[in-house]
Amino acid sequence: MPSGTPKGPPGASATSPGTSRQWRAGDSFLSMWRELAPVGLHPDSGGYRRYAWSAADVDCRAWFRAQAEARGLTHESDRNGNQWAWLGDPLAGNAVVTGSHLDSVPDGGAFDGPLGVVSSFAALDELHRRGVEFTRPLAITNFGDEEGARFGLACVGSRLAAGQLAVADARRLRDADGVTLPAAMERAGYDPGTIGPDPQRLARIGAFVELHVEQGRALDLTGDPVGIASAIWPHGRWRFDFRGEANHAGTTRLADRRDPMLTYAETVLAARREAELTGALATFGKIAVEPNGVNAIPSLVRGWLDSRAADQATLDAVVTGIERAAREYAERAGIDLDVVRESFTPVVEFEHALRDELGRILEGTGDTGRPVPVLGTGAGHDAGILSASVPTAMLFVRNPTGISHSPAEHAAEDDCTAGIEALADVLEGLACS
Ligand code: GLV
Ligand code: MN
Ligand code: MN
Repeated sequence: MPSGTPKGPPGASATSPGTSRQWRAGDSFLSMWRELAPVGLHPDSGGYRRYAWSAADVDCRAWFRAQAEARGLTHESDRNGNQWAWLGDPLAGNAVVTGSHLDSVPDGGAFDGPLGVVSSFAALDELHRRGVEFTRPLAITNFGDEEGARFGLACVGSRLAAGQLAVADARRLRDADGVTLPAAMERAGYDPGTIGPDPQRLARIGAFVELHVEQGRALDLTGDPVGIASAIWPHGRWRFDFRGEANHAGTTRLADRRDPMLTYAETVLAARREAELTGALATFGKIAVEPNGVNAIPSLVRGWLDSRAADQATLDAVVTGIERAAREYAERAGIDLDVVRESFTPVVEFEHALRDELGRILEGTGDTGRPVPVLGTGAGHDAGILSASVPTAMLFVRNPTGISHSPAEHAAEDDCTAGIEALADVLEGLACS
């Protein structure tokens, strides 16, 4: 058990895959799952708060290292704080790498990220049980700060490694308390002096496969426990700063107010309207208000827009439409508006050759007798970032409600088992041929 891990329940029923069935693969999964379950679990919300470089994140990292060492794998933390557990020579090249992330969104579910990491160790155990011979080096990874919950930018660890985040920009990232990313890394016991592109490391990867809980209901609708990813929608985050005039809530006539909250509220409605018109997604899910007093008209409302669409033109159209509407409302109300794009990830089309190879390996292995479905997603992943540098693929495990980024996120025991078996089959097909 990592030091400092709160002693708590091994996971509420919503977060535990349960024990009712004999596990066909990855007998170790449940014990790992139970050990990780209390780390960063918030007792009131029942959700996870595993923010990058926080005490909970440090505990998750200690758990990862302990899993690596228990299996005799070589553990290393790379220059960006991503963790690697190696079977075979890390320097040999053409490695097969699997893994995901252990950090969470605010009050996130148990599965987004950890399912991929825990299933990776369980799949390795399954391969040892099968007695296979590895012909390529294999690594399991935990990429740092995938969710971007603390510093506002998603996939910081993989972006830095892939050279998709400038070191100077990373050094400027600050959390809500003003703590910079380097300071947070330092407090967690990591050296921020080395962050930056890691092309040699990425060049030694022959294939990266990330298993992830599905964050929608596509597999539930097709009736399949496991799917293969085709693409990730382009997506980004935009910060809208609405500035008005702070004033007294009890004495300022309505006609005399410059209230940025009203303009923000109109913009939220415009975002919904534009999303419906274009077939895109647009969400204001985070807000900061100054001075944030119940009896004060705000001076500043800062809202963060998350928008995603199936293609770039649609994404451009929805964001342009929302910004245009916000500027019109702001001008009418005497509100100053700044819009800043804080992050952007273009469309990702996973490599067809690797995707097809996964399809071939998994053909006929499932209970359905059908080919494994291939599906796109609107959710971002480290696999999407790495796909620009490395042949990359993803496996999705059915989520019966589709709910994600919520304590209610879930995957059934049988489906987690099917995911481990599928990942083991894929790793065997790629690394043991
Ligand atoms: C990560 O889960 C994202 O898509 O925001
Ligand atoms: Mn997520
Ligand atoms: Mn994730």
